[in-house]
Amino acid sequence: MTKTKSRTLVITAGPTREHLDPVRFLSNPSTGRMGFALAEAAAKRGWEVTLVAGPVALATPKGVKRIDVTSAREMLAAVTAALPADVFIATAAVADWRPKRCAAKKLKKHEMSATLELVRNPDILKSVKCGFKVGFAAETGDPAAEAARKCRAKKLKFIVANDVSEPGCGFGTATNRVTILRADGSVRPLKLMTKRALAAKILDEIKGLSA
Ligand code: CTP
Repeated sequence: MTKTKSRTLVITAGPTREHLDPVRFLSNPSTGRMGFALAEAAAKRGWEVTLVAGPVALATPKGVKRIDVTSAREMLAAVTAALPADVFIATAAVADWRPKRCAAKKLKKHEMSATLELVRNPDILKSVKCGFKVGFAAETGDPAAEAARKCRAKKLKFIVANDVSEPGCGFGTATNRVTILRADGSVRPLKLMTKRALAAKILDEIKGLSA
């Protein structure tokens, strides 16, 4: 009997850090919980999972290949090296900007100014090539319009949108309430649930769209 080939998934999770010297950086409060829950759920379903993680304090889920990175550019390089895959999911809260210069040694007060010069980071989800891309959009206020725009611009199969200002839905929470917006314009609001339960729903959505 021939063994069926397992599906492959590359997924990003957590924040990125954009250093201006060895002890200072720009970042955000992402904890990586959603991405790690998805990686764990996919591995349990027999997927071959590569998890590209920014700096987070989470244990690697069983059966998952993990690559740790710090900056957005390192994350892009790790994702590019890990592809091709059947599916690419971007849950990471990637810093859109980085300091133009990163000093090799800790900057002294007198060496810094009140203005920080920034340059744009690459958009990982938009730039990588994969036939099945899924994105996340953490917004404040009504997330639907913004998420629909991102879904089109980044050529996604669907995007998972949520309002991070809603109680129980912010960074680091165990729960989330999201809306799934598909490329075809259909909208599926889900109730508040644990990120683990949500991971199962997202994998079901992928399964449904790939059938
Ligand atoms: N993303 C990415 N690389 C970036 C920025 C975002 O891969 N440099 C991915 C995120 O992982 C997420 C999706 O793109 O899946 C949307 O990210 P978000 O920060 O909500 O949107 P942006 O494209 O950065 O747009 P804006 O800052 O205008 O909200």
